[in-house]
Amino acid sequence: MPNTAFLAPDLPGLKAAAAILRGGGLVAMPTETVYGLAADARNDRAVAAIFDAKGRPRFNPLIVHLAELSQVEALATLTPLAWRLAQAFWPGPLTLVLALRDDSLLSPLVTAGLSSVAIRLPAADIARRLLTEFGGPVAAPSANPSGRISPVTPAHVLAGLAGRIDAVIDGGPCAVGLESTIVDATGDAPRLLRAGGLPAEALEAALGRPLLPALHGTVTAPGQLASHYAPRGRVHLNVTAPDPGDIWVGFGRCPGAELTLSDSGDLTEAAARLFHALHEADALAGPGGRIAFAPVPEIGLGRAINDRLRRAAAPRG
Ligand code: TXA
Ligand code: MG
Repeated sequence: MPNTAFLAPDLPGLKAAAAILRGGGLVAMPTETVYGLAADARNDRAVAAIFDAKGRPRFNPLIVHLAELSQVEALATLTPLAWRLAQAFWPGPLTLVLALRDDSLLSPLVTAGLSSVAIRLPAADIARRLLTEFGGPVAAPSANPSGRISPVTPAHVLAGLAGRIDAVIDGGPCAVGLESTIVDATGDAPRLLRAGGLPAEALEAALGRPLLPALHGTVTAPGQLASHYAPRGRVHLNVTAPDPGDIWVGFGRCPGAELTLSDSGDLTEAAARLFHALHEADALAGPGGRIAFAPVPEIGLGRAINDRLRRAAAPRG
């Protein structure tokens, strides 16, 4: 693989990125959630290259990204529930798991052989323009080595994957900063598979009903494994009085904290800063150092923040 190209988010840059995708290459694409590692979802070799570049287990299915709602029906069946959610929240930080069509032409590696497929229409302008320029379905997991911290800047992408991918598009920092919320909409009952950048409360308000938990054992995926988003140091949670030498990451008033998710205790700001803070704390603490996070309330985006922090803190497998 040659050096990873750094592409501007203008028309020539996006045309170059689309040409790389058409040729079966890999491009890191900025979305409003995190940077995705994009490949043509119909090209087996290109999709296999995603798994190789990330060191990702092949049993973990990928999200398919599209520009337009009209493209979904060629790939999957939209239930009435899925229609409601798509109309309310797409484009945006929501992924819907839907029944896969037999004639979708998607690489079976994308779905890991499942009979369902995860689909998202991202809201970020650069992602939408790239998807429109490419014109087809794009498979994209987060653009980080498997198990490590998700990337929310092009520098994070390059730190993990430089030399392993063809290009990264410079979209600056991601606005939401947490991966999409994943909802199983294959049936009548919405099931929350992953907390993310769209708060569960917003989904429940739009549907007028609570989300059900995931059925056990549906998918075994690294993003759902106990240890994920892992820095090299040890992560401790709910720390209000750090030990000497700790890199303390505050939320709200935390005098003396090295870093903060949000001085004012704002969850939207904290979500956007979470992976920046994990990358920065990782660099400051180094291998074997201690990273201590102040408590974050378990409401709204706080649920997704705490989900990622618990996985970052979990014992390594
Ligand atoms: O915000 C995001 O979702 C980002 C951006 C790039 O779109 N992508 C992302 O992808 O976070 P990744 O691969 O890191 O996480 C995808 C998750 C995994 O937990 C996977 O198990 C789940 O989606 N998934 C994919 N297909 C599925 C399916 N058919 N059923 C259940 N879960 C599925
Ligand atoms: Mg990921």
